[in-house]
Amino acid sequence: MEPEKHTDFTSLIESARLVREHAYVPYSHFAVGAALRTKGGRIFTGCNVENLSFGLTICAERVAVGAAVAAGERDFEALAVVADSKEPVTPCGACRQVLAEFSTTLPVCSANLEGAVYESSIAELLPRAKEGILGT
Ligand code: THU
Repeated sequence: MEPEKHTDFTSLIESARLVREHAYVPYSHFAVGAALRTKGGRIFTGCNVENLSFGLTICAERVAVGAAVAAGERDFEALAVVADSKEPVTPCGACRQVLAEFSTTLPVCSANLEGAVYESSIAELLPRAKEGILGT
């Protein structure tokens, strides 16, 4: 039997922790950092960017996806999300769908500043992500 593949989130969590410092969060004061690793080992990061018109706020995860795609990368291996929350936060529904566009099985690690971690995956967070869309 194949041994279960273990994802190393250590450097990704550190990248997400660092980019979180750049979050623009004048409304919620809830800074989030995200780091996305490609299968080739490159890391792309994002922080949340809020807006006076609350609905235009962009989450850290979608900023990271945009940065990677703009650099020509679409093959993702893992995602880390860091926030200063009691429990580690997982991507919101919109971000789950955007991440599923590129990988429906993406491993996700959520961490808080105290070092608590919660490992999941897009497969678990958003099952059947591509059903019922464009007739699929
Ligand atoms: N937020 C993220 O950036 N990522 C998450 O996973 C959770 C929520 C942001 C959106 C908003 O700026 C703030 O956190 C509060 O919801």
